[in-house]
Amino acid sequence: MAEVNDKMEKVISLSKRRGFVFPGSDIYGGLAGTWDFGPLGADLAHNIKELWWKHFVKEREDILPISTSLVVPEAVWRASGHLENFSDPVSICTKCGHTFRTDHLEDKEVCPDCGGKLKSQASFNLMFPIGMGSSPGQGVAYLRGELAQGMFVNFKNVLDTMQPKLPFGLAQIGKAFRNEISPRDFLFRVREFDLMEFEYFIKESDWEKYFEMWKEEMWKWIERVGISKDSVHELEVSDEDRAHYSKRTVDFEFDYPFGRKELYGLAYRTDYDLRMHSEASGVDLSYFDDESNQRFMPHVIEPSFGHGRTVLAVLLSAYREDEMNGEKRVYLAFKPDVAPVRAAIFPLLKNKPELIAKAREIYAELKKEFSNIILDDNGNIGKRYRRQDEIGTPYCITVDFDTLGENPDLLNTVTIRDRDTGEQKRVAISELKEALN
Ligand code: GAP
Repeated sequence: MAEVNDKMEKVISLSKRRGFVFPGSDIYGGLAGTWDFGPLGADLAHNIKELWWKHFVKEREDILPISTSLVVPEAVWRASGHLENFSDPVSICTKCGHTFRTDHLEDKEVCPDCGGKLKSQASFNLMFPIGMGSSPGQGVAYLRGELAQGMFVNFKNVLDTMQPKLPFGLAQIGKAFRNEISPRDFLFRVREFDLMEFEYFIKESDWEKYFEMWKEEMWKWIERVGISKDSVHELEVSDEDRAHYSKRTVDFEFDYPFGRKELYGLAYRTDYDLRMHSEASGVDLSYFDDESNQRFMPHVIEPSFGHGRTVLAVLLSAYREDEMNGEKRVYLAFKPDVAPVRAAIFPLLKNKPELIAKAREIYAELKKEFSNIILDDNGNIGKRYRRQDEIGTPYCITVDFDTLGENPDLLNTVTIRDRDTGEQKRVAISELKEALN
């Protein structure tokens, strides 16, 4: 146990040291449940979103993109059932005043922080209310707790403008906010996070078929993004643990160092949301099927992916320690598509203008194809390798005197080093793009 928690600490410490993730509002002592991505983390986070978008939207014909407001009026959350049901049980310590999620407590009577007596309170709603407009009573709005409602309230707009045929999905990536009682475990449970999710609209009779299809597709994503498949397990969520809108939910759980917990969710939301919004808004959200000449309410399968949990699972899956050339090293075995830096170009020596000029030339050429290329001439080559290994750069390319023709047979070739094996190959500059792909 000590060893695994050690891994969590090592990943958190590497994340801070190398500019992946910083505590939110750090210089003011941090704000619980918020984390900021530093320069490398922002690139990693962005690459994961871009890959998700490619995987689930751009490479498919049946998913349409959408991007909806973060601020959503109370009426929407009343109809969706979130005002009534989106809450967790809470216990408060009568001595120190700390609050806990009751279902997370091993001993529901005793405060884990001070040993005081715990008292259970009414359930705590996780929605963030915000004051909207300049005069009081202009209407309550909430920061969205999930993206899904944006898809449901725009369903008719999409039908009217795009005339999509079932089955089709609406996908978006964006912020969600939840006033978690006890945020914890780094990026795992936070109060502000990105979600990547889509609602897939189907005929009711097809729900089992598409539920299975999306389960398979989610596994393909897990592999593609670089999450260790051996650490992911499906969990059939029981009736009492399912969200109020779901008739069946399968969670994809990940073996985090702090336990096996939810990574992603796949839910069959039935026609619950469209029905509730039709009733509450008075706007007909049914679909006309011109093949069967029938009008009906579509049903929905929803694959939902927490982005921060993806970043965390990718970091934990990629973290490695080994020994290379008699030296201990730490490296992140990111897949090239998500690595913040795809390749680093090294001029062998810093003070040789001809090496620098050639390295710059290669850098400029590769940067046209892949944006995440860097040039590094700082310190000896061994140190540069270690630095790049630690941030997960799959390839290091070294420009040396042979590149310039000292050995005429090697003119216009470079060495390319593989991060995981440390193996080096000599390749022609003209073949570099292919090698990096
Ligand atoms: N629209 C469905 C929905 O929001 P959910 O299970 O409540 O379902 C979806 O959340 C995903 O969001 C989860 O599978 C998890 O990856 C992520 N998630 C939920 N709460 C989170 C939190 N407090 N911090 C970080 N990620 C969270």
